[in-house]
Amino acid sequence: MTPARYAAITGWGEGLPPAVLTNEDLSTFLDTSDEWITQRTGMKERRISHVSAIDMATLASRRALACAALDAKDLQLIVYGSCSPDEQVPNSASGVQVALGATRAAAMDVNTACTSFLYGLSSATAMIQSGMVDNALVIGVEYISPFMDWSNRNVAVLFGDGAAAVVLQASDEPGGVIGTVLGCDAEARQTLRVRGMGCSYVNGDLHYGDTLWDFDGQAIFKRAVHGMSDACGRVMATAGVSAADIDLVVPHQANLRIIEAVAKYAGVPMERVMLTVQRYGNMSAATVPVSLVDALKEGRITPGSLVLMPGFGGGLTFGALLVRWGNRVTPLGESDAQHPPLEQSALEMVNAIRARQDPHGRSKDALLQTRFIESQLAPA
Ligand SMILES: CC(C)(COP(=O)(O)OP(=O)(O)OC[C@H]1O[C@@H](n2cnc3c(N)ncnc32)[C@H](O)[C@@H]1OP(=O)(O)O)[C@@H](O)C(=O)NCCC(=O)NCCS
Repeated sequence: MTPARYAAITGWGEGLPPAVLTNEDLSTFLDTSDEWITQRTGMKERRISHVSAIDMATLASRRALACAALDAKDLQLIVYGSCSPDEQVPNSASGVQVALGATRAAAMDVNTACTSFLYGLSSATAMIQSGMVDNALVIGVEYISPFMDWSNRNVAVLFGDGAAAVVLQASDEPGGVIGTVLGCDAEARQTLRVRGMGCSYVNGDLHYGDTLWDFDGQAIFKRAVHGMSDACGRVMATAGVSAADIDLVVPHQANLRIIEAVAKYAGVPMERVMLTVQRYGNMSAATVPVSLVDALKEGRITPGSLVLMPGFGGGLTFGALLVRWGNRVTPLGESDAQHPPLEQSALEMVNAIRARQDPHGRSKDALLQTRFIESQLAPA
């Protein structure tokens, strides 16, 4: 019988953009307030990126590879989890591959919206366990600010930009992802829909960056609590563990009240729940990995910790992974890579995007096309 193979998490790193958009910043152009946003969501701040999604993902990846002391040239698989790719074709994983010089790595994108990192992590784990590859880089990244409808207070206050990545390596030691439940509540797929994200045809003309958000927050809220709680219960039962065994819950962070409800159903006290919603808002696919990196930095994951990671997102996809952490919780090395310096504040960047949207959040010009052309003209 072939000995069991596991996919240990050996590297981690974030590529968060530095510019912070506060609730007060949002209330300068939306009919909203710090009080409303804090009470209804738990959010205080979120990040706005001054670089592309691939750039954020590449920085996170460099840091994760340095943490694992793995040379990019030895990387065999890149999984890029996101629903806001810089372009549809070519895929974004290939952009990270070329930036890292990871010339031997297969490169694929996974889009299950906010759960893209969880779906990607479980897929990469299975590919390592099957022997198909020996290592993988799994990225969760989102660049939502250019696609946001900044005229719609129902959604504009909720999201932020960000990225993080983990490195997986084959191991004989039991650990890594030890339990997976994935699902999709597709009956409610229209409750969270972004029409025209990227590009769309309107009356025969190609428009870039039109963003019409169909968003039924209350319906999503209920289904998110149900889907995540159900997935947590099932993944713990399948792995034969109870709530008392969970050292830390690292959940998707769409709303503090959703997290509290899921923790309550799972039977885990809030002291054992990692919260980042107050400082980053909802970064969709980047939320869980960024929270994981912060948990490691804060010493909340210790050798052998059992970590529960529930999530949900557009689709409505949902899932919960159980991770048994290995012995190492400190990086083997550090990358000196950084984002380029900021030239504008978060509010200035958002106002520049707003200036290119009509009062209904639709793009007035070819913002994305401009950015794409600029990125192609930039020196390699
Ligand atoms: C979106 C969400 C925060 C709204 O919270 P809520 O308590 O359900 O609030 P409601 O939708 O009932 O809105 C209550 C009122 O606040 C208003 N409101 C909505 N956004 C507001 C804002 N940013 N500022 C001020 N008021 C706002 C609404 O217009 C409504 O006013 P009305 O009663 O006069 O009609 C919450 O439903 C949620 O978190 N949903 C899930 C999040 C999600 O889907 N994330 C993306 C998927 S990962």
